[in-house]
Amino acid sequence: MAFQVTTELSPAVFDYKPPNPPLKEFVPSRDRAFFGDPEKASLLAQASAVDNLTPYVGTELKGIQLSRLTDAQKDELALLVAERGVVFFRDQDITLEQQHALAAYYGIQDRDPNQQDPRHVTIVGREGNIRAYGNNSGEFHSDHSFEVNPPSYTLLRMVKTPPDGGDTIYASQAALYDKLSPTFQKTFEGLHAIHSSDRGYAASINGGGSPHRAPINTSHPLVRTHPVTRLKILNYNPWFITRIAELNAQESNHILAFLREHLLQADDLTVRWRWTAGAVAFWDNRAIVHKATPGGYDVTLREGKRTAIFGERPFWDPDNSESLSQRIERLQSEKGENRENGIHSQSVLNN
Ligand SMILES: [Fe+2]
Repeated sequence: MAFQVTTELSPAVFDYKPPNPPLKEFVPSRDRAFFGDPEKASLLAQASAVDNLTPYVGTELKGIQLSRLTDAQKDELALLVAERGVVFFRDQDITLEQQHALAAYYGIQDRDPNQQDPRHVTIVGREGNIRAYGNNSGEFHSDHSFEVNPPSYTLLRMVKTPPDGGDTIYASQAALYDKLSPTFQKTFEGLHAIHSSDRGYAASINGGGSPHRAPINTSHPLVRTHPVTRLKILNYNPWFITRIAELNAQESNHILAFLREHLLQADDLTVRWRWTAGAVAFWDNRAIVHKATPGGYDVTLREGKRTAIFGERPFWDPDNSESLSQRIERLQSEKGENRENGIHSQSVLNN
């Protein structure tokens, strides 16, 4: 039988007592990407191929085993992930213990409110009607962005996967910001969105889950500065955002509907990853949103292990950030180049 999601405030939801207190804001240790060589010489020298899957997001590195990275290569990889949003690998031999250790290298391991093992989430196949009311399992999102310190670097390793189905789609939040008109960019800068775990909490309990923290509603900037790339990025998340804090109800509803359409229209800003057993996606939750494509396959054939670390509290620093287009223009003029057909974003993001 298909799993049904309900977010109703049922007696079970009212009666449930989460065992752990809310998380307190903290300042994470310095992002490892800052320690990486901007040229990524050590990491890229090891790769047999560097394949940019789309102009704006997603690079596949071939010939590299995550289990054998040096610390310098790990730092360079973090920088590449921050720049490209997501970096993919296939045929990895990394064990679960090694995956935990790799996550711990990058920071304090994040724990989803529904995550039972403190070190990883087991990702399974999903069926269900993603078009049913209240079912968000096929919706774009940044993983539990309602946290005060939402996750940054996240690694999903697929242990087993069906021959087809279960792809993951990633969209660049820097490009989503950049493709807004200057008028909308200005309007959205300085606004805040409320990210809520209320519905997920209720759905978890109604589905037999045991969330270990109470639901929270957190205000985050709608446009944020990426701490590593200093790019202006949209901080939009249709799964968890309930409203825009500064707007009236109807204004908020319509702006959120616009943002959802803006995202769903952005085929040019997305990459779709087809999984194979042993494949890994290493993404930066700050730089992308992603979604699964549930259904149409045998759910028992899909299993992955996800590790993540807590990032900094999202911030907006208008005096020290620029849009993707502004960066392209600046680097173009700095290099004295004048390319008639525009610059491929990849060449910019790798600078
Ligand atoms: Fe996710």
